[in-house]
Amino acid sequence: QDTHVIDHPLVQHKLSVARNRDTTTDNFRRLVREIAAMLAYEATRDLPVEHADIHTPITTCRVPVISGKKLCLVSILRAGNGMLDGMIDLLPNARVGHIGLYRDPETLEAVEYYFKVPDDIAERMVIVVDPMLATGNTALAALSRLKEAGATSLKYVCLLASPEGLAALHGAYPDVVVVTAAIDRCLDEHGYIVPGLGDAGDRIFG
Ligand code: PRP
Repeated sequence: QDTHVIDHPLVQHKLSVARNRDTTTDNFRRLVREIAAMLAYEATRDLPVEHADIHTPITTCRVPVISGKKLCLVSILRAGNGMLDGMIDLLPNARVGHIGLYRDPETLEAVEYYFKVPDDIAERMVIVVDPMLATGNTALAALSRLKEAGATSLKYVCLLASPEGLAALHGAYPDVVVVTAAIDRCLDEHGYIVPGLGDAGDRIFG
């Protein structure tokens, strides 16, 4: 089961502040953006590197540059957009897709209302972003649509994951690596992550 929990003190501290219900909207947005950038740093750790000749002001040398697959970030609306900005700061050349999915509060099933991804997604390493992996229904719906669209290389980046959501995702898509800042205890009867941070979309957008 390929789950990377990023236990860096900066990530953990910022996540702890974000969890606090007294954290204001402006601080919450900033924290989500900052944590997302650090998760992007870890999610791209295994990008292939090749060597190129360049001229420094002093001499000529061979230096490492990223090679191979280009990136595509896919934001799951709405809350994924809170993370997207932080990731684009770090990966300015990445293409971006959007998937609109909301969770039916009664059934907890994911309902799609928008889908737009770059045409060349099959040739890109795809990083899906959504702050919360709760039941996993949203993640499974998104990954299924992305595979349909041709994506083959996929990572899933979230702030918080539940054990149930991780089991569902790894069960259905064992090839998808998950990068998260924390694995929380469980889900409550409404499908919220406990202890969690509340409804990420509401805390970012109201
Ligand atoms: C939340 C969250 C995830 C999803 C996770 O979205 O941002 O997308 O629920 O839940 P799941 O793993 O049980 O499917 P929500 O439906 O609140 O939509 P929003 O982002 O537009 O607020």
